[in-house]
Amino acid sequence: MIDIPALQTDMRGKNPRTILRKALELFDNIAISFSGAEDVVLIDMALAIRKDIQVFSLDTGRLHPETYRYIEKVRKHYGIDIELLTPDRDVLDNFVKQKGLFSFYEDGHSECCGIRKVEPLKRKLAQVDAWITGQRKDQSVDTRSDIPEVQLDTAFSTAEHSLIKFNPLLNWKSSQVWDHIEAYQVPYNELHQHGYISIGCEPCTRPVLPNQHERAGRWWWEDSTKKECGLHAGNLKTSS
Ligand code: ADX
Ligand code: SF4
Repeated sequence: MIDIPALQTDMRGKNPRTILRKALELFDNIAISFSGAEDVVLIDMALAIRKDIQVFSLDTGRLHPETYRYIEKVRKHYGIDIELLTPDRDVLDNFVKQKGLFSFYEDGHSECCGIRKVEPLKRKLAQVDAWITGQRKDQSVDTRSDIPEVQLDTAFSTAEHSLIKFNPLLNWKSSQVWDHIEAYQVPYNELHQHGYISIGCEPCTRPVLPNQHERAGRWWWEDSTKKECGLHAGNLKTSS
């Protein structure tokens, strides 16, 4: 049984490698959740610690063609398996039949994200003891500034199965991530060359202007306090 408060104290303010090393030391059955963006540095760093890391991506069916090509590039570059998780076919067929392909512009992203991201993620997380994400504090003042380096994942743990979530990049700024990509010649998504900073699904992501915050390009028609898709539901403040 892991002593979470003690681990949190131990990991507070630590750098990504230290947090990753601890995560991989504590858990064998642990997986990196790779979005197809700059969180590739997690894969790069983890492989230097352990060769047999599990990596998965949520294939929503709505990613940019560039992101699909990039996921494939990462797979070949590192010689790793990347598990692509797809939505439940019947649920998706029914949803699209009833609401079409762009309902999120009218009634918000949570239903579509629930089907295309959260349910497949839930299925995967039921099979592991811990997961690793690329969340950083500087990605969102509204939803990510208060999260810890390691936490009990209250959104995906069940009575029978506790799930631990590690956020190794938490204390890095975007510039540090990009310094690592540059220094170690890590492959990156070509969308970053076209003004995209944060990258999600194609209909829900757009490039940002100079000095705009990166999350401004995600679900831009919605309030910034709601810009979490359920993957990191625990970040949302419940009181308003
Ligand atoms: S999101 O919740 O708003 O979409 P964001 O794009 O900031 O998340 O990414 C934060 C972290 O969530 C990523 O580093 C990754 O660990 C995880 N993540 C986001 N999208 C995906 C995806 N499609 N597949 C796997 N992991 C993802
Ligand atoms: Fe659907 Fe947009 Fe969420 Fe992707 S980000 S799952 S397209 S609502």
